Amino acid sequence: MSDLIKRHDDVIAPVIAFDTTVHAVSAEGIWVTDVEGRRFADFACGIGVTNLGHNHPAVVEVAKSQLERFIHSGATWRYDSIVDAAEKLRAITPPRLEKFAFANSGAEAVEAAVKLAKYSTGRQGVIVFRGSFHGRTMGSVAYTTSNAKYRDGYHPLLPSVFVAPFPHPYRWGMTEDEAIDHCLDEIRLMFKHVVTPKNVACFLIEPVQGEGGYYPAPQRFMNAIREMADEHGILVIFDEVQTGFGRTAEWFAADHYEAKPDIMSMGKAIANGLPLSAYGGPREMIDNWPVGAHGTTFGGNPVATAAAAAVMDTMGELLPHARDLSKRAFDRLDDLKAKHPTIGDVRGLGLMIGIELVADRDTRTPDSRALEAVQRHAMENQLMFIPCGPDKNIIRFIPALVTTTEELDWAIDVIDEGLTRWEQDES
Ligand SMILES: Cc1ncc(COP(=O)(O)O)c(C=O)c1O
Repeated sequence: MSDLIKRHDDVIAPVIAFDTTVHAVSAEGIWVTDVEGRRFADFACGIGVTNLGHNHPAVVEVAKSQLERFIHSGATWRYDSIVDAAEKLRAITPPRLEKFAFANSGAEAVEAAVKLAKYSTGRQGVIVFRGSFHGRTMGSVAYTTSNAKYRDGYHPLLPSVFVAPFPHPYRWGMTEDEAIDHCLDEIRLMFKHVVTPKNVACFLIEPVQGEGGYYPAPQRFMNAIREMADEHGILVIFDEVQTGFGRTAEWFAADHYEAKPDIMSMGKAIANGLPLSAYGGPREMIDNWPVGAHGTTFGGNPVATAAAAAVMDTMGELLPHARDLSKRAFDRLDDLKAKHPTIGDVRGLGLMIGIELVADRDTRTPDSRALEAVQRHAMENQLMFIPCGPDKNIIRFIPALVTTTEELDWAIDVIDEGLTRWEQDES
């Protein structure tokens, strides 16, 4: 074990789970270089953050220039970059989002979005969807149900959070229509038995469940949620912290859906690595939120918002390439599924792809050992990815948008070899 890892483990709280013991010293594009000069292709993107690749020159340049001029305001002084970033956000987000505020993390943006929904409706209930991840702060963890371990030891959580099922057709062995109908019935029953709609401020939904297993919400399900919300005066919050900024090969997952949100939380790739998040909603709703009723010292930092503006200037050009990469990845992964019985399902949206590994296709038994074996093989071959899902059996395949077709093919070949080795060893 290198000296750094020993020092790290001696002083850093182990609750913060690091995925590798690689001692990184520099990074560029999809490649991270370690202290011994080895290079690893980063197919985790710092968990969905470096969507433009590490140290994208456009981001580095504006961040450096802003650093040299003015680092911090703390909502005292006014400055260009926060206004630039908000104007650019307004141009690319769904139509109801007219005004914005910035924060530091995804969890903080989610909590602010829910506070806004509660304040503007005067209602307290929040409907979340089982399998969702919305963060791990004391408020956001009450909305997170991707894994019970995140909630373990912290009860009681926030009251009046109601958990509805989210369609997981593959896991439930159902058709998509059966899964949607089941979920919608459960929400209707929730309104009948658990909470009347007039007490519900918002639906909080990830359009593609991320940490919970890379499940895209079906179009009909999203439309039905939007219709129920409109019928009962409930707001719809899309949590696009992970799905946003090119991850689905569009600016936002919302671009894939007919149903649009009233409020949206964003984070992760917004500034390609600088800590920043944002939330936005309709002009009137946001203007009715009393001045100072919510806030943060560091949110909307000048350097981070300058980086965000650069991300929004740069990413649009890459979206057509991202769509091509997505198509190629799905075509190739579908072929891999035909070849490897260990692959139970391949699903996702754009470049947010889950490859679910199972011990037995008939029972769909999650196989985390297979995932670990493929992950080990990948690391031996300088490919880094991380898992998702409560059983840690789903390969979270999230290449940066700057990945070349050759690099994408190579990564899929490495996974293919890893699966072949695993299947040979097990037979
Ligand atoms: C959809 C979603 N919401 C919220 C969060 C929380 O973001 P953060 O870790 O920046 O607080 C995440 C993080 O993975 C996420 O994927």
